[in-house]
Amino acid sequence: MEGDIDRILLTSTQIHARVREVAAEIAETYRGDETELTIVPVLSGSIIFVADLIRELPVKMKIAMLQLSSYRGDTRGELRTLLDLVGDVSGRDVLVVDDILDSGQTIRHIKEDIETKNPRSLRTAVLLRKPDRAPADLHVDFVGFDIEDSFVVGYGLDYDDHYRNYPHIGVLKPDLTN
Ligand code: IMP
Ligand code: MG
Repeated sequence: MEGDIDRILLTSTQIHARVREVAAEIAETYRGDETELTIVPVLSGSIIFVADLIRELPVKMKIAMLQLSSYRGDTRGELRTLLDLVGDVSGRDVLVVDDILDSGQTIRHIKEDIETKNPRSLRTAVLLRKPDRAPADLHVDFVGFDIEDSFVVGYGLDYDDHYRNYPHIGVLKPDLTN
């Protein structure tokens, strides 16, 4: 696995330090007794980020997972919902958590979908964002790191469902993604 990584962009130490900072920002936003937080992890890429993040969040919360079809590889396929455990979030404070904001299609689709369920508030958190690709009009509330426009794996992010367990975030060797 390590041999497939061209270079490390973010070490696990850097990631953990930043996840604690993001958790502090989120905790500040949702402090107060009337918060009814529902975390919506977007599977599968966010699993490691979410697991680390929520253990740093001393806020009462529910967790409701969501999985969309991956459109990578298909030439502009429709985004479909594969698993929807979100349920009734009307009146709740929803925080969608994803691994990476690339073209923004995924986050936009999820926001539109959850907005129809009348949450009290709806925010988004991503570990990574590629500013060169992310649409300027798509607001995300919490961002771990802005990164270069390279294909990255590790800490939950995959290529062909591999490398999610790699503890750092690294750029794959170019010949592997061709
Ligand atoms: P978007 O809809 O283009 O913003 O892409 C978001 C989804 O594409 C993420 O949830 C990831 O699953 C996947 N993705 C985008 N860029 C990368 C990458 O560099 N490495 C791994 N997965 C990625
Ligand atoms: Mg994903």
